[in-house]
Amino acid sequence: MTTAKKLLRVLAGEALDTPPVWLMRQAGRYLPEYRATREKAGSFLDLCYTPELAEEVTLQPIRRFGFDAAILFADILLVPHALGHDVRFVAGEGPRLDPIDERGGPGSLKPVDEIDEVLAPVYETVRRLSRSLPEEVTLIGFAGAPWTVATYMIAGQGTPDQRPAREMIYRDRAGFEALMERVTDATVHYLARQIEAGAEVVKLFDSWAGSLPAPLFDRYVTQPARTIADRLRAIHPQARLIGFPRGAGPRHRAYAEAAGMDAIAVDQQMPLAWARENSNGLPLQGNLDPLLMVVGGEALRSAVRDTVAALRGYPQILNLGHGITPEADPANVELVLETARGTADG
Ligand code: CP3
Repeated sequence: MTTAKKLLRVLAGEALDTPPVWLMRQAGRYLPEYRATREKAGSFLDLCYTPELAEEVTLQPIRRFGFDAAILFADILLVPHALGHDVRFVAGEGPRLDPIDERGGPGSLKPVDEIDEVLAPVYETVRRLSRSLPEEVTLIGFAGAPWTVATYMIAGQGTPDQRPAREMIYRDRAGFEALMERVTDATVHYLARQIEAGAEVVKLFDSWAGSLPAPLFDRYVTQPARTIADRLRAIHPQARLIGFPRGAGPRHRAYAEAAGMDAIAVDQQMPLAWARENSNGLPLQGNLDPLLMVVGGEALRSAVRDTVAALRGYPQILNLGHGITPEADPANVELVLETARGTADG
């Protein structure tokens, strides 16, 4: 089947003259219209679980900028929430969860077949988006990867070095692996439902992959990604996956070979010339420094040109190396799109 959607063409292996563009966290606090809808929703979780509002904030950056892809508005912490963790977003402090009892492991979590009681509104948001998005725009669903989700469940909050989760691996391997298994099962279920509802691509965010010691990376980053990809394709053979093992560094190569992804998203520390040769031929997504979205100007313009040029002739999706920050200037998003779309033959 041929498709006109640029992002799907790239995932199928095509190198386009001008790459499709979207930005991680493109719906967010740097946009005044997001802040207004967020205010109306009350809490962040209410925003995630109210389909009309989640649809609205997903569409806001598409209307304003004309990105090639929309990413479902939700959060990676909805899975722990649906598994029975109390999740709260404290203004100015980030997420707070009830930390799991290190000895009790995941015993207190709800069974996976009950998560839809909480997550059903997210599937409704996906269904709405699949009807309301312009036809050239690809709809991306997502989930956190098991390691990254587990770091929040174990610590009960974001941590600079994921120490509580790394400690649990050494102190209570069985409890840690039981937790990983439960999150993996929930993730397969959650992503399969998103695909049924109309997500054309799903992205697996392993934002803290880099903090695992080298001997544990394959077991807790690459293998869970592979399990999720295999099980998802057994349910939905058409599933398309983008993996984001942030901070992988040289472990990127083995991840690209073994994780079963259709494309790999890379952070801004990744040299693209190296990635081009070490990605098993898979399409690459990335990897502008999010700080440039605050700075703008010639620094941003030349970074866009260099990034596009580094992957010319190779299947590429232009994005940031991590999420856009609340301080970003929306005018700089326009600059990225203009510059990227003006780079053909350049
Ligand atoms: O990309 C998008 O536009 C889609 C929506 C999206 C959000 N979070 C919305 C959000 C996505 C894909 C995520 C993923 C996510 N959430 C990750 C993985 C990607 C990454 O950034 O590493 C992680 C680690 C989380 C967990 C999370 N959610 C944290 C640590 C925070 C607080 C930090 C912060 O930026 O405030 C959130 C809250 C959150 N998720 C916000 C948004 C727009 C801001 C909350 C608000 O509006 O008050």
